[in-house]
Amino acid sequence: MLFPMTLLFNLLLLSHNCTAANNITLSRPLSQDQILTSAGQFFELGFFQPNNFSANHQYLGIWYKGLFPRRIVWVANREKPVTQSSAANLTIGSDGNLKLLDGNQDTLWSTNVSVPSNSSAKAVLLDNGNFQLKDSLTGANFWQSFEHPSDTLLLGGSIGYNFKTRERRELISWKSDNDPSPGNFAVGLEDFPVQTFIWKNDLPYWRSGPWDKSRFIGIWQMDSSSTSFFTVGGDLQQGQVYLYTNPINQSETDNIFITPAGTLQWVFWDLEGGQGWSVVWEAPQGPCDFYGVCGPFGVCNSSKSPICSCLRGYIPKSDEEWSRGNWTGGCVRRSKLLCETNASSIKFTNNGTDRFWKLEHMKLPDLSDYLDIPDDSCEDWCVSNCSCKAYAIVYGIGCLVWTKDIIDLQYFLDDGEALFLRLSHTEFGKIIITF
Ligand SMILES: *[C@@H]1O[C@H](CO)[C@@H](O)[C@H](O)[C@H]1NC(C)=O
Ligand SMILES: *[C@@H]1O[C@H](CO)[C@@H](O)[C@H](O)[C@H]1NC(C)=O
Ligand SMILES: *[C@@H]1O[C@H](CO)[C@@H](O)[C@H](O)[C@H]1NC(C)=O
Ligand SMILES: *[C@@H]1O[C@H](CO)[C@@H](O)[C@H](O)[C@H]1NC(C)=O
Ligand SMILES: *[C@@H]1O[C@H](CO)[C@@H](O)[C@H](O)[C@H]1NC(C)=O
Ligand SMILES: *[C@@H]1O[C@H](CO)[C@@H](O)[C@H](O)[C@H]1NC(C)=O
Ligand SMILES: *[C@@H]1O[C@H](CO)[C@@H](O)[C@H](O)[C@H]1NC(C)=O
Ligand SMILES: *[C@@H]1O[C@H](CO)[C@@H](O)[C@H](O)[C@H]1NC(C)=O
Ligand SMILES: *[C@@H]1O[C@H](CO)[C@@H](O)[C@H](O)[C@H]1NC(C)=O
Ligand SMILES: *[C@@H]1O[C@H](CO)[C@@H](O)[C@H](O)[C@H]1NC(C)=O
Ligand SMILES: *[C@@H]1O[C@H](CO)[C@@H](O)[C@H](O)[C@H]1NC(C)=O
Repeated sequence: MLFPMTLLFNLLLLSHNCTAANNITLSRPLSQDQILTSAGQFFELGFFQPNNFSANHQYLGIWYKGLFPRRIVWVANREKPVTQSSAANLTIGSDGNLKLLDGNQDTLWSTNVSVPSNSSAKAVLLDNGNFQLKDSLTGANFWQSFEHPSDTLLLGGSIGYNFKTRERRELISWKSDNDPSPGNFAVGLEDFPVQTFIWKNDLPYWRSGPWDKSRFIGIWQMDSSSTSFFTVGGDLQQGQVYLYTNPINQSETDNIFITPAGTLQWVFWDLEGGQGWSVVWEAPQGPCDFYGVCGPFGVCNSSKSPICSCLRGYIPKSDEEWSRGNWTGGCVRRSKLLCETNASSIKFTNNGTDRFWKLEHMKLPDLSDYLDIPDDSCEDWCVSNCSCKAYAIVYGIGCLVWTKDIIDLQYFLDDGEALFLRLSHTEFGKIIITF
């Protein structure tokens, strides 16, 4: 009886000693049975087995302290698990880098940055969940986990991209709940004005619509109060654009992550509602949210059956596919535009030129071009360029035009934007052919 008691006492003592530290240094590595705890007791860093799946698959990760089920918010060695039971540790190597070594001294993961040789590096787990490698004297930052996220965006973290170098800071899903190695889904930014995408195997899977300086206009539930939560910023000279989450309050547990099945979830730890992770918002939500479900020139209405129809003036590219519920082929124009049949001479006849059909409450389509012209010149620009298929004037953005396919268009129940679709004048009169 005595022996287990002593063991327990020692374990308690050991764990007490371990939880005191929030940092590792050259002389004080982190062994597999130790845990770092941030100073304010918000986050922990240590070794874990996802869902206790296999003792031979251990990873170094960060999670919220004391919240179960654990939300692993960052993983170092996603692709190379520790496969021996207890010999691994996280050290600062002689070159100043963080290194995860297994019992054979093999490096499973490393920060791999250049650290000045005159500096003495240490790594600190901060109260916002950021793990930083920095100089112990000057505090100069060499590397931080917030610049290398896994599947989770923590408060104060960011995703982004550089449109000059094409480098991305993105979230990448786990392969499965038991396997943190990179899965099929990625979340990142693209375009100008910037949009958030989920990509599945590098193809668009969901899209937020452009940022209008206070919200993403393609997220129906999002209002301008989101500016208190998100900031889009960057350095256009350098080509950098970032989406930051604002660190409102250290005790807030809000975080956004991409599940192995490709759902982007915003969750928080709900103290009242049953003490668990509660979902604030997620995407995609309905059938119309999947990118391009109705194909080019198709439009999605989730309250209609079937959900897809062709835009006015367009007919299914293939009736056979369309009637089988395969809408991805999309639609084609039924009658030629005036500007396509003949150019300048007709503009001055009474028959009228091409005109614009107004569609309201829209999630605006993808593949727009932003024009830096006055709002009231937007329509004129579109009229005078035959390749302009539609335009929109968005408050907070300005003039958007579509000269390529019109894709990923959906009707919202409410709100949304107005899209002006170019049509031949024959589509406006009585001459509309039904099919
Ligand atoms: C690093 O951890 C040690 C050991 O727990 C602690 O005494 C020290 O204050 C920590 N340093 C910093 C900068 O937090
Ligand atoms: C993993 O095992 C430990 C110890 O047996 C247990 O406390 C914990 O709840 C388990 N975690 C999961 C996710 O099953
Ligand atoms: C850390 O791991 C290395 C490689 O296995 C080993 O040489 C070293 O003794 C370990 N240090 C500690 C403190 O466990
Ligand atoms: C470390 O970085 C260098 C250059 O940045 C790169 O060539 C090398 O492949 C990296 N090594 C590892 C293990 O990632
Ligand atoms: C290391 O050297 C650089 C350049 O000489 C200097 O700026 C820096 O302050 C030095 N760092 C330390 C910790 O001495
Ligand atoms: C931070 O959030 C906690 C819990 O939600 C709350 O009790 C506390 O008052 C907040 N602090 C500030 C400065 O808003
Ligand atoms: C979407 O479908 C519903 C149900 O059929 C219909 O009431 C609504 O008018 C449709 N919206 C648009 C913009 O066509
Ligand atoms: C749907 O149609 C597209 C072409 O429009 C075709 O490539 C695809 O294989 C079809 N999918 C199914 C499930 O039939
Ligand atoms: C278009 O105009 C050209 C010359 O301006 C003329 O030769 C041609 O016949 C016209 N085509 C149509 C379809 O009206
Ligand atoms: C103009 O309208 C008349 C009468 O509807 C028609 O005969 C003629 O072809 C039209 N011209 C053009 C260029 O559409
Ligand atoms: C029309 O738009 C296309 C595509 O943006 C562009 O390449 C072309 O230069 C434009 N033409 C005119 C006359 O502005």
